[in-house]
Amino acid sequence: MRIAVVGSGYVGLVTGTCFADLGHEVVLVDNDEKKLAALRNGEVPIHERFLPELLARHRGERIKFSGDLQAATRESEAVFIAVGTPPTESGDADLSYVESVAREISGGVDEYTVVVEKSTVPVYTSQWIRTIIMRNGADPSSFDVASNPEFLREGMAVTDFLYPDRIVVGVESERAAEVMREIYGPLTSGWYYGRGDAIPRPEAAKAPPRLIVTSTKSAELIKHASNAFLAMKISFVNAVASICESVGANVQQVCDGIGTDSRIGPRFLNPGIGYGGSCFPKDLMAFRAVAKESGYDFRLLEEVIRINEDQRRRFLRKVRSVLWTFRGKRLGVLGLAFKGGTDDIRESPALLLVQELLREGCHICAYDPAAMERAKEVLKSGVEFAADAYEAAEGADALLILTEWEEFASLDLERLRTLVKYPIVLDGRNLYDPALMVEHGFSYYSVGRPAALTEELPARILPQKRERA
Ligand code: UGA
Repeated sequence: MRIAVVGSGYVGLVTGTCFADLGHEVVLVDNDEKKLAALRNGEVPIHERFLPELLARHRGERIKFSGDLQAATRESEAVFIAVGTPPTESGDADLSYVESVAREISGGVDEYTVVVEKSTVPVYTSQWIRTIIMRNGADPSSFDVASNPEFLREGMAVTDFLYPDRIVVGVESERAAEVMREIYGPLTSGWYYGRGDAIPRPEAAKAPPRLIVTSTKSAELIKHASNAFLAMKISFVNAVASICESVGANVQQVCDGIGTDSRIGPRFLNPGIGYGGSCFPKDLMAFRAVAKESGYDFRLLEEVIRINEDQRRRFLRKVRSVLWTFRGKRLGVLGLAFKGGTDDIRESPALLLVQELLREGCHICAYDPAAMERAKEVLKSGVEFAADAYEAAEGADALLILTEWEEFASLDLERLRTLVKYPIVLDGRNLYDPALMVEHGFSYYSVGRPAALTEELPARILPQKRERA
């Protein structure tokens, strides 16, 4: 099929590229000429696994780049809107980019076109898009609006797109549903998975996926409710971790115990310094605003947000209780991205913690495998950037692990031990087995598990219950 994707950010770029890999003819539209030129030149603006390979495979062939949205609409059977919906000050999503795209699409709709909202948007947006397209002169029978939320995790977006748990399609007509079924046909029929050059299948993938057809309003709510539920799972386990710390239990054992209940499931039960990124924080605020507007006071969401923010404060208190004073201390920091596998630092708990430690007078030597360039734009002074994890640890009063990068979970502990000034590790992502750390001579503090100590600390300021050696 001929498909236009508007917006070459992370959702638009991944969506367009994956559609090309499914065999569709894609035109990726953006109003930023610089971005378009870079893409045409073969640059890949985001850190996303398999994206460079797929872009190289289809660039100039099945995927083209354009600044002309009306022309792209005219040539396409479906137009996917994947532009930004940043939060306003009050927490609702700013939909002005979506509106201006809808206005422009209106001028290009001649033959039947399905206009699909892909950006995360509040309920009623598809109806507004329809109104705006008609208000600007398009014939109501020449188009339909559909909602097709994405469930892509940054860093895993290509795999998530091609091996989804489900595909949600919200429509108001059978005709639009048919177009959407055809677009996703290569996945739902299993055709893609039989191809020799398909992107590797993740172990847990249940391919082919089910395509769920709903109303547009339900699809819009599915997106917000999914993200809110996942964030709630994280905050729930973080609250349980805090209780574990108070009573001397081990949150890992508790999670194994509850996660094996198939109704609960083991995923998204990793405690830590909280969730961040460009999705959960923004979507929770937007969902809360949507609920409020509809007359429902969704206080559970406020609590999810509060627990999440508290997680960082708790971790900071833990660092303080181990170091005693902050001023002039040298801290090695592993991780700046909001999670492993990405260079994204938006709403990163790691970055927020670093900023707080800097305000307290600490000196930071940080390393992140992908996010340092972005972090340098934000962290101007008081921070050194290291070439690797070992350099970050050199001479450190304590080493802090703040992002769950895989490579941070398999460091050479013997080597690390010789580099730090004091063998103290505070792990905000629970990457290590406490017993192993003690074996290697480290005092080790993590989240929701007993501290494993190689030294005596004044009893009253112990951050969490001690396990007897
Ligand atoms: C999230 C959702 O997982 C996607 O399904 C959704 O499509 C996307 O938002 C979106 O709305 O576009 P993403 O923001 O890329 O994806 O990141 P996640 O992998 O969900 O992680 C979010 C945050 O939660 C990270 O800071 C991560 O460190 C934290 N997290 C995650 C935990 O603290 N514990 C966990 O068990 C899982």
